[in-house]
Amino acid sequence: MLQTTHPEAVARMGGRPIGRVVFTAAQIQARVREMGAEIEAAFPVDDELLVLGLLKGSFIFLADLVRQIRRPLQVDFLSAASYGKNAASAGEVRLVYDPEAVLEGKHVVLVEDIVDSGYTLNRLLPLLRSRGPRSLEVCALLHKRLASGLVTEPRWIGFAAPPEFLVGYGLDFSEDFRHLPFIASLGELK
Ligand code: IMP
Ligand code: MG
Repeated sequence: MLQTTHPEAVARMGGRPIGRVVFTAAQIQARVREMGAEIEAAFPVDDELLVLGLLKGSFIFLADLVRQIRRPLQVDFLSAASYGKNAASAGEVRLVYDPEAVLEGKHVVLVEDIVDSGYTLNRLLPLLRSRGPRSLEVCALLHKRLASGLVTEPRWIGFAAPPEFLVGYGLDFSEDFRHLPFIASLGELK
């Protein structure tokens, strides 16, 4: 594994140590190119394609991904807040920013930074499906628990993620580290 002693990395971290680099910028770029080509080939070119980014974590991934898709498409974002993951109110996902784009009749690709429990997707997908898209697929950069019982598994997955807390390339820890050009681990999850 790479040590994160690269001067640029250290500068971006404000001198704080991070565990290790899990996916380098070059590895990410190569994989994003492949995923872009797969999405490009997946839908008839005359059909409408809407790439919908789940904020905030997907912003860098989406920006790189859409530039690798050589066909007409539109981009929009949504932002969701979930409440009571372990409480009696579990099941609530509220859109705090609702996309302006019309989903009806379009192929919609929802772009997610990382799927962990799948809770967010399981709650969000029925809501989006109710808006009548022609198809609804998920593209996740990282997937933590590939064997989890997700209602809908992502059609595209960048990398299987280790059971560690990951930051960078859009992923945050308390809003820090989103701007790292690589993905790093803050350590193993207990
Ligand atoms: P889920 O609903 O349990 O699948 O959680 C998905 C969301 O949790 C992601 O969109 C991230 O915002 C956040 N998340 C899960 N694991 C990590 C991680 O390792 N680093 C940063 N954010 C994470
Ligand atoms: Mg987050």
